[in-house]
Amino acid sequence: MSGDATTGAGDALSGLDERAAARRLDDLAARIAAANRAYFQDDAPDITDAAYDALKRELLALEARFPHLVKPDSPTAQIGAEPAEGFSKITHAERMLSLANAFDAADVADFVTAIRRYLGLATDAPLSLTAEPKIDGLSLSLRYEEGRLISAATRGDGETGENVTANARTIAQIPQRIAGAPAVLEVRGEVYMSHADFAALNARQSASGGKIFANPRNAAAGSLRQLDAEITRARPLKFFAYGWGQLSAPLASTQSDAIARLAAMGFPTNPWMRRCDTLEAMLAHYALIEDQRAMLGYDVDGVVYKIDDLALQARLGLRSTTPRWAIAHKFPAQLAWTRLEAIDIQVGRTGALSPVARLAPVTVGGVVVSNATLHNEDYIAGRDARGGPIRDGKDIRVGDWVQVYRAGDVIPKIADVDLSRRPADAQPFVFPTHCPECGSEALREEGDAVRRCTGGLICPAQAVEKLKHFVSRAAFDIEGLGARQVEAFYTDGWIKEPADIFELRAKFGSGLQQLRNREGWGEKSAQNLFDAIDDRRRIGLGRVIFALGIRHVGEVAANDLARHFTSWRAFIDCVERASLEPAAHAPDARARKPLLPQSPAWAEITGIDGIGEAVALALTSTLSQVAERASIDRLIAHLDVQAPPARASSGSPVVGLTVVFTGTLEKMTRAEAKARAESLGAKVAGSVSAKTDLLIAGPGAGSKAAKAAELGIRIIDEDGWLTLIKGIDAANGPGDG
Ligand code: IVH
Repeated sequence: MSGDATTGAGDALSGLDERAAARRLDDLAARIAAANRAYFQDDAPDITDAAYDALKRELLALEARFPHLVKPDSPTAQIGAEPAEGFSKITHAERMLSLANAFDAADVADFVTAIRRYLGLATDAPLSLTAEPKIDGLSLSLRYEEGRLISAATRGDGETGENVTANARTIAQIPQRIAGAPAVLEVRGEVYMSHADFAALNARQSASGGKIFANPRNAAAGSLRQLDAEITRARPLKFFAYGWGQLSAPLASTQSDAIARLAAMGFPTNPWMRRCDTLEAMLAHYALIEDQRAMLGYDVDGVVYKIDDLALQARLGLRSTTPRWAIAHKFPAQLAWTRLEAIDIQVGRTGALSPVARLAPVTVGGVVVSNATLHNEDYIAGRDARGGPIRDGKDIRVGDWVQVYRAGDVIPKIADVDLSRRPADAQPFVFPTHCPECGSEALREEGDAVRRCTGGLICPAQAVEKLKHFVSRAAFDIEGLGARQVEAFYTDGWIKEPADIFELRAKFGSGLQQLRNREGWGEKSAQNLFDAIDDRRRIGLGRVIFALGIRHVGEVAANDLARHFTSWRAFIDCVERASLEPAAHAPDARARKPLLPQSPAWAEITGIDGIGEAVALALTSTLSQVAERASIDRLIAHLDVQAPPARASSGSPVVGLTVVFTGTLEKMTRAEAKARAESLGAKVAGSVSAKTDLLIAGPGAGSKAAKAAELGIRIIDEDGWLTLIKGIDAANGPGDG
């Protein structure tokens, strides 16, 4: 690890005298204040979260060491301003989704193949897609009722966004009234700023001493999300309509006709949209847009392909956050050369030691980059996971000239090293074998590219990262308790593990004074915090499972698990039983599994759609650790864990039913049948048992049908199934599981 003063704070600080400490405190406070401004007020973060965290950690450590130097206006005494404070919320009638990404032609080919497979279309059956520029702005949903614009909302978390109606009304390209539209019409599109308008805005800002925006996207976001709509009016925002949300009547039967109708109603639509009948045509249009990119006059970061036939789009449906019928083909990353000044090691919530490159700041595609991820020790050494060379085997050393690239919003990475400019005294980087935060041994298991701190709950970095994850938006999402507050509370020793959050009121209810003095909390804000915490005692199972921060268990897997188990008891009992199964403890479960008998519990977990062995192994190994499990049990004791809501819209006749498909299906593929049934709230099982409610049997159904008949289970054919579910609109979202 390098001697960069922003990490390993404890060690670096021990030699500091008081004068130096006071100076450093001022410096840190100024840097944090600048970062807060950039993030919260200007929509233009100029340092990474990790770098911000390092500054904050150092400040907290210094303040703890020199308490009498703490100033009343220290950043630790302020609660991070919510970026959206002041905007009311709008719940989208239909969720606003994001897009899956393709990075090369092979990914696009895979996308088309997967669609054909899903729909059961032969490779030569006709299939048309639209191809259009992916605008680099921010998405906006406009709701029209009886032809009048009644609300406008940003995407937010996809379910609820910020109410920016007043601001949207100031954008000249957005019609306030439209003719020939269905009674309810939600138009979705991208708000953006042209290159020329962006340059002129920055020139004006510079002349008036205002804020300079890093790129057109930030300028558009900062301009739209103004509490004072008059400021938005003065900003030259533009809009392209590319889709829709809720509709009272369909617009057309194809994507291209629907967009043409929006254009006829007066919405700007992108002139570069084409209908393509082959993969070659799609890729050719991508090449054309890429070629024209610099001449378009606005930022485009790729091409979006969408299935043209809307009936097929409906059949393909949605995954949890992205549609199956569209994909974004991103343009290759942008590149720049700079000097690597240091390599720092950060410790994540699962104990992973992640090397971070500290770079001499350089502009890459309009953004100043000063950090880049280095992945792991093999990556630094120039080896891939299998020991093969990357960058022709060139290792990365402090002092090197490195090529940095950015792809979309992804953290910058290092593409190459210029050996001809390597300083003569540059040394190979020695990856630490101990955790820089807690000193515990850091081990690398066979087959794992990552070295992990073995300190578990005793490692402060892991504990803090876990807590931050616990309070994050998709987890407990407690108002007033964000990453920064959690960090301060941890440093003060008030919250060491999640259960402590739910004991805060009991601890401070009477001694509010303490909380008030230390963190700049007032009586009111402290009471609000306690109330917000109490609100979260009743919480969905999916959020709880996700909040535990278990490796491989992301939001989607957590919701899949929640939907399957429906109660904490059922979930933890099954994981407990699966932990007794030897395969779960094998160092390489995949290799050993076939040799070992499978416990029913292990099979139950891995049998859940979307849950693989890696998740099962992570669940069993984490939850069988005594200290970890005790900490989770303490947490659960404070909670009232709720079963996830059924996935389907109300009125689905198959909600909660366990169904089995067998035999040949003629009108849909197996994958489609399963996804559709699940989106309607049914559970799809692979085999018939006493728990089965319904068997859908196509021609050639054999033993499953016989068994179902024997058990007296209702059996219907494919048409019977289609009739049963006809007219039901699937709510494809994962819900607040
Ligand atoms: S279609 C179902 N088309 O990209 C998803 N999105 O990465 C609907 N975007 O949130 C998106 N240009 O803000 C679509 N021509 C385009 C787009 C586009 C930009 C944005 C949109 C979306 C994001 C997804």
